[in-house]
Amino acid sequence: MSGKRLTTAKDIMAMKGRQKIVAVTCYDATFARLCEAAGVDLILVGDSLGMVIQGHKDTLRVTLDHMVYHTQCVSRGISCTHLVADMPFLSFQVNPEEALRNAGRLIQEGGAHAVKIEGGVRSAEAIRKIVDAGIPVMGHIGLTPQSVHQFGGYKVQGRDEESRQSLLEDARAVVEAGAYSLVLESMPKSLAKEITESVPIPTIGIGASVHCDGQILVLYDLLGLDERFNPRFLKKFDDLSERVKKAISSFRDEVRAGIFPDDEHSFEG
Ligand code: KIV
Repeated sequence: MSGKRLTTAKDIMAMKGRQKIVAVTCYDATFARLCEAAGVDLILVGDSLGMVIQGHKDTLRVTLDHMVYHTQCVSRGISCTHLVADMPFLSFQVNPEEALRNAGRLIQEGGAHAVKIEGGVRSAEAIRKIVDAGIPVMGHIGLTPQSVHQFGGYKVQGRDEESRQSLLEDARAVVEAGAYSLVLESMPKSLAKEITESVPIPTIGIGASVHCDGQILVLYDLLGLDERFNPRFLKKFDDLSERVKKAISSFRDEVRAGIFPDDEHSFEG
């Protein structure tokens, strides 16, 4: 663990216009330690864990208990990185009181420093309630995966004038409700630029162009752990699916050939 000071929500806010924010998702202590060692500014325990960890086709089956568990795992692997936990489907939509209680669990039991909530205008009351209790909230608009069935798939949002205007309204609502940062997911460059220039809080993009104040990617995607997942917005910074398969098949070959374990990896006496 490093002796670095904890990065807070205020630090993240202060980065707008000064320094690009580097964010990744993470779900366990081992990768969390590596993310911190690599110098990311922010780790999100995303409900994307429903897909990349649990193997579901969407994020809708992730529960608050799952989120608390993975947030605990990640928090044990870091000492100074800003840690945000996603509020899963139905943990904040029912009413603001329940949203606050659930956000509180992610902070109190999970060890998160902030929570993330999908939705703009429709989530504003819940955001306000949580912020008023002293918990920093990250907003998330555009392609919000918890609404995948309403959208009819994982589609770029804000392409027509009506949806563009409604996303601008969502961004304003999130800011007015007191959020300290805002994820923009899957939208045209020009819209991400307009939102970023019009809000006082940092925007963090995924599929939302270079115009955002920072970028986030799902860790397993940027490492190239799934050779089947190749959306346009994704840049794979490594090809770990191949490297992992190669390492495991080398282990397989050496075990079958009686090469491993050799003397160097065996105990004497
Ligand atoms: O759940 C998640 O990983 C997310 C990010 C992609 C922003 O919401």
